[in-house]
Amino acid sequence: MRRPALHFSPRKGWINDPNGLCFFNGRYHIFYQHNPYSSSWGKMHWGHAVSDDLVDWEELPIALYPDRWYEDDEQGGCFSGSALIEDGVMYLVYTAVAGGKQRQCLAISHDGEVFEKHPANPLIDMPSGYTDFRDPRIFRHGGWIYMVIGASDGTHGFIDLYRSEDMIGWEAMGHIYELPAEQGRMPECPDLFEVDGHWVLTFSPVDYVREGAPVMAVIGDADLDRCRFVPRYSQPFDYGSDFYALQSFIGPDGSRLAMAWANGWQWMGTFKGFSPDPESPWCGFMTLPREIRCIGGRLSSYPVKSVWDTFSHDFYKLDGELSGEMSICPSPQSGATAVSIAIRRDVPNAPAEVDIEQGRERMVVIADGNSSSVAVTIWKDGSVDRAACLSVPSDASDMRVDMIIDEDSAEIFVGGGLSTTSFNIYADGKRSIGCRSIGRSTKISSFTVSGRKK
Ligand code: FRU
Repeated sequence: MRRPALHFSPRKGWINDPNGLCFFNGRYHIFYQHNPYSSSWGKMHWGHAVSDDLVDWEELPIALYPDRWYEDDEQGGCFSGSALIEDGVMYLVYTAVAGGKQRQCLAISHDGEVFEKHPANPLIDMPSGYTDFRDPRIFRHGGWIYMVIGASDGTHGFIDLYRSEDMIGWEAMGHIYELPAEQGRMPECPDLFEVDGHWVLTFSPVDYVREGAPVMAVIGDADLDRCRFVPRYSQPFDYGSDFYALQSFIGPDGSRLAMAWANGWQWMGTFKGFSPDPESPWCGFMTLPREIRCIGGRLSSYPVKSVWDTFSHDFYKLDGELSGEMSICPSPQSGATAVSIAIRRDVPNAPAEVDIEQGRERMVVIADGNSSSVAVTIWKDGSVDRAACLSVPSDASDMRVDMIIDEDSAEIFVGGGLSTTSFNIYADGKRSIGCRSIGRSTKISSFTVSGRKK
């Protein structure tokens, strides 16, 4: 694996889920599931990094070691959780796992560098009859601190709601959401938040029937006092296979930001095409930070401005039309590259094709403005490996498709993030980007390939 230029990756060891995302004392903090001793999953610690802009990260010492009786277990440790900032204090809640028991715990920090586990831990025991009970997400709403937790009795999945006034004593309120069978048997890393006046529930379902889109989003109405969530509609949050354990947080300007682990257990399975290379001292990285909106009831997510600001130099620029001939665009061979195309929808138009080849993989993106759809196919060694189809009905005169390609990944945002897909594709230091019309010509408002200034 090559180290991504624009995505957070650890110096060494394994990482999965982002945990405890927050903005505290003027900096963004990310914690994450971490095995510092090898590039495979193992006894979980909470790694820690900080950033001023969500682009450049500084790794700090490990925040939580699995050193207490309730978490000191080779198959356990300090599992996923979240953060809440109250009166200048950082509270971290997480699941301690040992001896097959999953219990919720609290750690506190006054400076964002030293973390103390609360002496009353574990605060919430696994209810009887449960096989899974983990990944607490805390947030304040009105006079209460709420916590949602992913739970399962082995067959059915639930999201349970708890509330507290002091973060120590927790009242169980019941299931706020029961997963329909097709949404899997256990919701990992649930999140529940309000954005633009809508309630959004997200989770990563284990054994989800819809393969290859591992974070589910349910938009609905919530009444937390009554432990009620009424779903209005649901959709995959992202249509790619490498997007898992999404966690949101509130930025300094009140915006709803989020990051996910750029992978997924189901797809990774036995690490298909992603074997933690025994030679590599590290494994895993996070997706780009995105802002979530819900405008007119439609969910969108789009990389934050500081990400776009890094693409300061246009290597290739075109407007007017694309011809049927494939043109190979000048582009950086490594690092991160942004490719954006705005196809006209207000005239009868032919679809456009963008081809991105790196390493053994080739991504073909076919964007059709007239049918407002984008088909993404990943080819590996000459055969189709993965695919996604995105569609964004809209009245806009252009259909815009933004792609950010890094050393190990491609993230695609259609219509400003109304539909998105994230795939891992692995580079080898050579990247080739081509574009053409699938027809005689495709009318475009713009096409650009950009990167960091040389
Ligand atoms: C999700 C997950 C969580 C758990 C953690 C363990 O990827 O399985 O449910 O807390 O990873 O590392």
